Amino acid sequence: MFVERGNRPGEATSQERRDAQQSDLRILGHVVRCDGARAVLSSYAGDDDTDDPAERWTVGRMISINLGSTRTVGLVYGVGKPGHDWRRGELNAIEVEVELVGEVQDGAQPGAGPVFDRGITRYPHVGAHAHRIRARDLEAVYDLAGRRAVTIGHLSQDDDISANIAIEDTLSRHFAVVGSTGVGKSTAVSLLMRKAIAACPDLRILILDPHSEFAASLPEHSVRIDSSTLDLPFWMFHLEELAEVLFRGREAVAEEVDLLRDLVPVARQMYRNGGSSAVTRRGSDTLTADTPVPYRIADLLKLIDERIGLLDGKAERPALKSLRARIEQAFADPRYRFMFNSHLIEDTIHQTIGNIFRVPHGGRPVTCFEMAGLPSEVVNAVCSVLARLAFELAQWSEGRLKLLVMCEEAHRYMPADSRQGFAPTREALARIAKEGRKYGCFLGIVTQRPGELDPTILSQCSTVFAMRLSNEQDKAIIRSAIADSSASTLSFLSSMGQREAIAFGEGVATTMRLKFEKQDRSLLPGQQKGDDPTACLNGCEVDLASIVNRLRNGMASHPASQAEQSIAMAAPVDKTSQPGDPDYRRASSLLRRSVTEEAEQRYGLKPSTFGMKPHGA
Ligand SMILES: Nc1ncnc2c1ncn2[C@@H]1O[C@H](COP(=O)(O)OP(=O)(O)OP(=O)(O)O)[C@@H](O)[C@H]1O
Ligand SMILES: [Mg+2]
Repeated sequence: MFVERGNRPGEATSQERRDAQQSDLRILGHVVRCDGARAVLSSYAGDDDTDDPAERWTVGRMISINLGSTRTVGLVYGVGKPGHDWRRGELNAIEVEVELVGEVQDGAQPGAGPVFDRGITRYPHVGAHAHRIRARDLEAVYDLAGRRAVTIGHLSQDDDISANIAIEDTLSRHFAVVGSTGVGKSTAVSLLMRKAIAACPDLRILILDPHSEFAASLPEHSVRIDSSTLDLPFWMFHLEELAEVLFRGREAVAEEVDLLRDLVPVARQMYRNGGSSAVTRRGSDTLTADTPVPYRIADLLKLIDERIGLLDGKAERPALKSLRARIEQAFADPRYRFMFNSHLIEDTIHQTIGNIFRVPHGGRPVTCFEMAGLPSEVVNAVCSVLARLAFELAQWSEGRLKLLVMCEEAHRYMPADSRQGFAPTREALARIAKEGRKYGCFLGIVTQRPGELDPTILSQCSTVFAMRLSNEQDKAIIRSAIADSSASTLSFLSSMGQREAIAFGEGVATTMRLKFEKQDRSLLPGQQKGDDPTACLNGCEVDLASIVNRLRNGMASHPASQAEQSIAMAAPVDKTSQPGDPDYRRASSLLRRSVTEEAEQRYGLKPSTFGMKPHGA
């Protein structure tokens, strides 16, 4: 490695005092040109293969230019032989292009380590000696100056120097992990999550996990919520979110949405008043279509029916009928079971929020919301509800609850084109990005295509881990995000190896090229999804019947085991207490009913029991 080791602490300018055996000509350079940000060195190179690779000038290496009391640190971004004529077997004069990164100064006290500063107070003069950087100087370059450090890997330049990030700043100022497919983004994220939990035990993490892969990589810290275990009652949805579900992601009919806006508050009020619609209408102005107070679908349908029956309501009758049909359709759709799955409509907001956001966390502070198998309009609406709840929860806890929302494939929710994507999800996530820090609600973004991500969101991410990127547009986005002085680091973006990343921003001292820690195979995201490459060689047949069954029922690809369900949905409790009682917990047997029982009650047979208490319950 291009690092000089073993100098005595505090030694000011040891670089020239090197082993007489070493060829000074090769490892020393001299400044021949310097502008404000860059310098050119002249040095020599030979062509014999027996050389120590560490003694060669190559791109990506750090050097220091000795100026007496200070040393200017530079990064090699180009090497070349002027004239291109190479004389074999001799030393050839070469040119080395260097970007100036900052300055190292030895500590004031004897024995104190060197200190790095991004600014340059003394520029190198022509003729100044340049040489490989000392290990202690390199450590100083990436030193976090007292900020709480967490090791996530090692430097690409030197395997022996650990890559540290300031975990609190990384989390609280939001971060992004970008890179092409397969470079190790998800693995890096699970590593970061692991470190974050260890460093901040009170942190709660919600991972929006479109490929259902994170639970496998955080088995001891996480609970899984998928379409079969999610319990997010429809009455917690805002009007726009409900419309997204009812209109299946297509543009909503304004007239029908207006009707919903009128009727949902009345239905909420009816629930509050124990079903009496007479009192309701007078008092309904205190509730809006967005207030998270329960209501019954039965009441909503009853109100629609009443309106259809009104003599003067002829003009709005078609819209009312169409709205009624839409509600019934959504209600009957097995994919929306998570919204309508309880036939007892009760105020379960505490329980729902507690389950999803892990309050109390019981040693498992991470929720992996697995979205594989959910229709896109559901994903949109649910992500919007969850992101909104995360922010509000953090806000109303007045900073006591620290929440990190991790968005994998973030360009899906926050596309650069503002006409695409679901506006409320975008707004909810943008709100976390802009204001979340003040309340302890943080955002983590993962994307393969930074060019397709809303640029304002990326600009709110103060720490970026850029992994290999090949698309020019994506590289340009990252280049524009990074401070000028480190711009040439980014020329490595297209050639970086797996696990390698360039980290820049608040969470690191200086732009840092690092390699994430190697993760055990069993902890790689998505491991349990049948990644065994020998499976097909062993002649295992694909179970087509179960695949078709999932297609039909819209079930998650990994039905949770009983044990996992009880973790996710809280333990069974006594059902004698009532909703609203301080110690009330919902009985787990009521959480889920079989499809047939549900279908019987919902389709045709007893439509009037929608959302009502069944007899004898
Ligand atoms: N830190 C690591 N330790 C060990 N193996 C790794 C590491 N990072 C990546 N890998 C290897 O690279 C593979 C792909 O990693 P990963 O799934 O994290 O990529 P990705 O960038 O998330 O891909 P995609 O964009 O397709 O989701 C892993 O299955 C693993 O074999
Ligand atoms: Mg991934």
